[in-house]
Amino acid sequence: MSPFFRSVMVTRHVSPACHVHRGPDRAPYLPSRGSYMLFKRVKPIEQILATAEKKGLKRQLGAFQLTLLGIGAVIGTGIFVLTAEAGQKAGPGMMIAFVIAATVCGLAALAYAELAAMVPVSGSAYTYTYGVLGEFVAWIVGWALGLEYGIGAAVVCVGWSGYMNGLLAQSNFLGGAFALPEYLRTGLYAGGSFNLLAFIIALLVTVLLVIGTSKSARVNAVLVSIKIIALTAFVAIAVPAAKTANFHPFLPGGWGSPLGGVGVLGAAASIFFAYVGFDAVSTAAEETKNPNRNIPIALIGSLTICTIFYLLVGYGAAGSVGAQPILGSNGMPLDPGGPEMAAACAHSQALVCSKEPLAHVLRVLGWSKMGDWIGIAAILALPSVILMMMFGQTRIFFTMSRDGLLPGVLSTVHKRFHTPHIITMATGLVVAFCSALFPVGKLADTSNSGTLLAFAMVSLGVLILRKQQPNRPRPFRTPMAWVVCPLAVLGCLLLFVNLSLTAKLVFVIWAAIGLVFYFLYGYRKSHLANGTEPS
Ligand code: ALA
Repeated sequence: MSPFFRSVMVTRHVSPACHVHRGPDRAPYLPSRGSYMLFKRVKPIEQILATAEKKGLKRQLGAFQLTLLGIGAVIGTGIFVLTAEAGQKAGPGMMIAFVIAATVCGLAALAYAELAAMVPVSGSAYTYTYGVLGEFVAWIVGWALGLEYGIGAAVVCVGWSGYMNGLLAQSNFLGGAFALPEYLRTGLYAGGSFNLLAFIIALLVTVLLVIGTSKSARVNAVLVSIKIIALTAFVAIAVPAAKTANFHPFLPGGWGSPLGGVGVLGAAASIFFAYVGFDAVSTAAEETKNPNRNIPIALIGSLTICTIFYLLVGYGAAGSVGAQPILGSNGMPLDPGGPEMAAACAHSQALVCSKEPLAHVLRVLGWSKMGDWIGIAAILALPSVILMMMFGQTRIFFTMSRDGLLPGVLSTVHKRFHTPHIITMATGLVVAFCSALFPVGKLADTSNSGTLLAFAMVSLGVLILRKQQPNRPRPFRTPMAWVVCPLAVLGCLLLFVNLSLTAKLVFVIWAAIGLVFYFLYGYRKSHLANGTEPS
C-alpha cells in the first residue's frame, strides 16, 4: 500500500455510507430523486482508492519501466507514418504543427500529472472525472477514451503494416519476393480493400496482452531502445542533408480552414496523435509501485524526450527531400485518406504519398539499406505502441465495468494470467477490423477527437478540485494551474475544430451511441447510485 493511500485510509475511514455520500463537505447523494441529480453522482476519491485497493491488479511497474512504457506508447505511427499526412496538409509548415501539438500536450500533461498522482488508480481521465465532475461526465470521458485508445491502436496497426508491406515489396533483403497484392496492402479509401497485415498484428498483440502485463512490459523496454536508435540514425542522416530551398513555399496549405482538416492547424490536429500515449502511463497507475512519485516523472519525462526527437525528425524529413503537398484543382492540398489522393498517389514517389515516409526519405537520399533498417526498426517497435494503446483501452473499460456502467463480465480477470481477458479479446477484434478497413489519417483524427475531449475534461477537473478540496494532499501540483489549465482547454478546442470533418462526424455518432447506452444501462446499474459496490 502506498504511503499516500495509507494516510488516506488512516485519517479518513471509508464506511459503507461512502457509497451514497458525495464527500465530507457536500450534501449526500440520494439516488431516488430523479434525473436532475445526474450531475451529482460524484464518487468520493476515498472510495475510488478503496475500490482499487480491494480489487487491485498486481503493483509491479517502477519509475524507469513506466517512463519506458510512456516512450513506448508515444513514439510510433505519428512520427513514423503521419509525418506524410502532416506534410500533405501543411507542407514544411508541419514544423509549426509539431510545436503547436507539443504545446497542447505539454499543458495537458501538467494537468494529467496532478490528477494521476492524486488518484493513482487505473481508468485514467475516466476515474478522475468520476471523482470530480460526476458519473455522467465520467461516462462521456470514458466513452471518448474508447475512441482514443481503441482507434489509436488501429492507427498504429495500419502504420506497422505500411512498413511491413514496404519491406516485403522493396527491401534489399527480400527483393520483393513476398510482396502482397495491392488490394491486401491497404484498406478501403486508401487504394486497397483489406489491410491483411494490420489485421494480423492486432490479433497477435491481443494474445500478448491476454498472457500478461509484466511479460509485455519487459519486451517493451527492448523495443523502445530500438525506436530511439532508429530515430537517432534518421536524424543523423537527414538533418545534415536539409536544404533551405526545400522549405519554400513554407505554408502551401495556409494556416487552416473553418471546416478543419487542412493547413498548419489541420496538420497539428492530426500530428497531435504523435504525442498521444503519455496519458496511458496514468492508466497503469493501479499497477505501479509508489505511483505518487513515479507517475508524474514518467508523464513529463516521456513527453519531453519525444518532443525533442520529433522536431529533429520533422526538420530532417522536410528539409532533405521536401514535403510539398499534392494540390487539387482549387490549388489547395488534396484530402489525405480520400479517393482523389489515393488516385494521385498511385504512381507518385512524393514523400506525402509514402506509407513508410522515414524509410522513403533515406532511400531517396541514397541510404537504401539504412532505409530497410529503419523499416525493420518500425516493424519491431510499433507493436509496443499497439500494446500500450490496447492496454489503456482494456483497463478503462475494465474500470467502467467494475463501476457497474458496463456489463460485469468485462471486468472478469483470468484465473491464470490475472488479466481482464474478455475485454481484451473484444477490444482486439474491434481494433483488428478497424485497422483492416480504414485509412490511417482518418483513424488518427478520430482517435484524437476522443483524446482532446478527455484532456479538456482533466484540465477542467484540476481547477474544480482545487476549488472544492484545496487541502487534499497533492504529491504533484500543476504549476500556474489557473493559466495552464484554461490554456490546455483552449488548445484542445482549437485542435478539435481543426480535425477532419469525417472525424468530427464519427465523434458525434459515437457520443450519441454512448449517451443512449448510458441511459439504458449504466444509469440504472451504476454501483455508486445503487450502493452495490462489490466487495
Ligand atoms: N503517439 C503514438 C503514435 O504516434 C500513439 O503512434
